[in-house]
Amino acid sequence: MSLLPDLTQKEFSREDIATILAATEVGEINKIRVAAEDVLLKHCGAEVYMRGLVEASNVCRCDCFYCGIRKSNKTVTRYDLGVDELVSLAQQCVAFGYGSMVIQTGERSDKKFIDNLETAIHRIKNETCGDNLPQGLGITLSVGEQTKETYRRFFEAGAHRYLLRIETTNPELFAQIHPPEQRIETRLECLRTLREVGYQVGTGVMIGLPGQSIEDLANDIMFFKTHDIAMIGMGPFIPHEQTPLWGKQCPDEESRLRLGLLMIAATRLVLRDVNIAATTALQAIDPQGREKALRFGANVMMPMMTPENVRLDYLLYPNKPNLNENAANARLDMEAFLKNIGRNLGLNKWGDAPHATK
Ligand code: 5AD
Repeated sequence: MSLLPDLTQKEFSREDIATILAATEVGEINKIRVAAEDVLLKHCGAEVYMRGLVEASNVCRCDCFYCGIRKSNKTVTRYDLGVDELVSLAQQCVAFGYGSMVIQTGERSDKKFIDNLETAIHRIKNETCGDNLPQGLGITLSVGEQTKETYRRFFEAGAHRYLLRIETTNPELFAQIHPPEQRIETRLECLRTLREVGYQVGTGVMIGLPGQSIEDLANDIMFFKTHDIAMIGMGPFIPHEQTPLWGKQCPDEESRLRLGLLMIAATRLVLRDVNIAATTALQAIDPQGREKALRFGANVMMPMMTPENVRLDYLLYPNKPNLNENAANARLDMEAFLKNIGRNLGLNKWGDAPHATK
């Protein structure tokens, strides 16, 4: 049995983090959970922020070895939501009281995509201003590696947060799960550029990849810390049949769920005042995955706002939940759950991480 480090300390070493991540005993895991929840309440408060998630296009130029919408997967029907549709989804977010939305897409650099997204961001900001949101809906983008010029255009149009997962900070492992044209150096450069342009920057990793060790995951958390990351989105790896990583050996589901929750808790203990998302991938393994994540230190939820007729075309991984989640019911269920655990929804506000606004 591992001997846990002092969970209330301010500085955790790589070894401390690895010890936390290696916990398997129920009593130890609960101690870690309670410590993470304490840090969350102390540094971020009891609110859970909602971001309506809109998967705006599944067209992708990349061929990541894990991802269901990789360009070589010819079984996927590709789609692209129009500007009007994005604006109307943003208005639905406002109507639900969600102060922010996340626009996520496959990675694209074509002119039509960039022009349309820029126009959509402009219009969303202009058309969602109101008493509840004097500066309009908060917009987080998750549209991959782009040029500085493109990042700047989206920022000037009004997006203020950007998520770009590093996927893993181990360079060899990164190379094993991506084709050679995708380079970890480019990803790192993009993260730097995003910050220069002025975004609040988020990143994250997949947990339980074939060939990934506990030390790799501990290094990932050290990376979040040294790169002063304000938002974290991470979840378990889920093998997809139409991808090259299918059939490769990885930890079983139970282990990936446990590791996913421990990664959230350890990240909370080490980074303290950042936003951490309870991601859908957790829920794909356990129907209560997102709720558990909130108890392990997560404070952001991303209810599905993608129109139902295209949801099935955005399967990054199988068993993706919420394919028929209804945004109105999802909010009621979440409210009831949060009330039970002494937390509440943070409505009608952007919900930036204290870390980002300091
Ligand atoms: N399992 C888990 N997460 C995945 N992602 C893509 N494919 C998978 C998968 N098979 C995650 C990646 C990507 C994000 C959009 O979804 O981390 O950055």
